Amino acid sequence: MDVMEAIHNRRSVRAYTDQPVDKATVEALIKAATHAPSSMNEQPWAFVVIQNPTQLASWSERIKAYVLRRLKPDSPLAKYRDMISSSDYHVFHRAGTLIVICAKPDAHNGKEDCSLAAQNLMLAACSMGVGTCPIGFARPWLNQARIKRSLGIPDAYVPVFPVVAGYPRGGTPPVQRRAPEILLWQ
Ligand SMILES: Cc1cc2nc3c(=O)[nH]c(=O)nc-3n(C[C@H](O)[C@H](O)[C@H](O)COP(=O)(O)O)c2cc1C
Repeated sequence: MDVMEAIHNRRSVRAYTDQPVDKATVEALIKAATHAPSSMNEQPWAFVVIQNPTQLASWSERIKAYVLRRLKPDSPLAKYRDMISSSDYHVFHRAGTLIVICAKPDAHNGKEDCSLAAQNLMLAACSMGVGTCPIGFARPWLNQARIKRSLGIPDAYVPVFPVVAGYPRGGTPPVQRRAPEILLWQ
């Protein structure tokens, strides 16, 4: 698959088979992530990989409770209240692999660099037949000091981009894109 194909075919996958993503594939995805550009070539990323479905299911319930406890009526997430409350809803979409891309301390553009790394990872995954989905819902929970500590994430590191990976179950319908708004083209 060439790059343009991967860009146009990548979808956020929300249904996965039980087939685990093997170690070599996860390593290849992380390596692709590290080939992203970074501000001043700081390469300020670090990775946490969780491949334990029981743990992910338990975290999903904890994250749902955490998000619901903090959900304010005027929050942009308020429209998802019913979805999050549903026992069917799994924050990680029952994917077998979670990769959390964390920004290292003192990076000048850590969030941007880690987001570029995530996009590399997701495009590489698409080209290898692996589905992915960013999981922004999990970020506030993962950023709690006690959770970071339990995952071996140093206090000064910031979980920026959680993304799940697995083999897609069924197709993922295309998502329409708006036409680009060109403000100036001289
Ligand atoms: C920063 C960020 C956070 C996201 N968080 C979630 C999430 O928590 N759960 C989810 O199912 N999708 C999440 N998404 C996926 C978006 O919903 C998805 O990218 C968008 O609907 C466009 O669909 P596509 O990725 O298939 O093109 C997130 C995407 C981004 C960029």
